[in-house]
Amino acid sequence: MKIQELVLNSNKLDLQKNFYSKKLGFEIIEEFGDGFSIQTGATRLSFVNFTDQNTNYHFAFQISKEKIKVAREWLINRDISLLKETKTKSDLVMGKSLYFRDPDGNIVEFIGRSVEDRRSAFAIESVLRLSEIGLPTKDTFSLAKKLIDDYHIVPKDEEEFNHDFCWVGDDDGVLIVVKEGRHWIPTNCPSIASDFQIKIKVQGREYAFKSSKGEIENLNVVKSIV
Ligand SMILES: [Fe+2]
Repeated sequence: MKIQELVLNSNKLDLQKNFYSKKLGFEIIEEFGDGFSIQTGATRLSFVNFTDQNTNYHFAFQISKEKIKVAREWLINRDISLLKETKTKSDLVMGKSLYFRDPDGNIVEFIGRSVEDRRSAFAIESVLRLSEIGLPTKDTFSLAKKLIDDYHIVPKDEEEFNHDFCWVGDDDGVLIVVKEGRHWIPTNCPSIASDFQIKIKVQGREYAFKSSKGEIENLNVVKSIV
């Protein structure tokens, strides 16, 4: 599964724009009335103005696992504070992930995967795609089943599904369906079922849906994106 487009809400739009375009260096590909889009590898990521609540999304950008070490230095050199490592058996401990917050407070991850990046150093072009987004909900099993049945997503580890956590997808693209309120590693922050819109490609077919309060709703097109 691949995430082609993702639209997130933001209540600090100007700060987000500065962070993603200036501090991280992603290219702004469009600015519209109440938001902007950046190109993050193969994925178009948009933020739209929404002032009602904190969003607390969790999402990850895929990089080559060979680049984790240089990506850590690269982030530190940009004055981005990495979130502290925890002693859980997570990707973080296994040295595969770097976590930091953006100005909205979202928990952002660089995740190292077995993919090629021929650059010797790390550059923002080393980000290959946005490869995961968290989807907090009340009933993880029924939402995971809907994603599998309606969107034909093939989960890599279906036997690992539990009431707190269902990892629906593969290394290239995954929807992390968690019980609403479960904390996002490596923080103690409870997950919030914040709305988003997404366009995915599964086995050659494109689908778009909206996640609203932990429920998903099919979309013909992703709004806010031309
Ligand atoms: Fe993650």
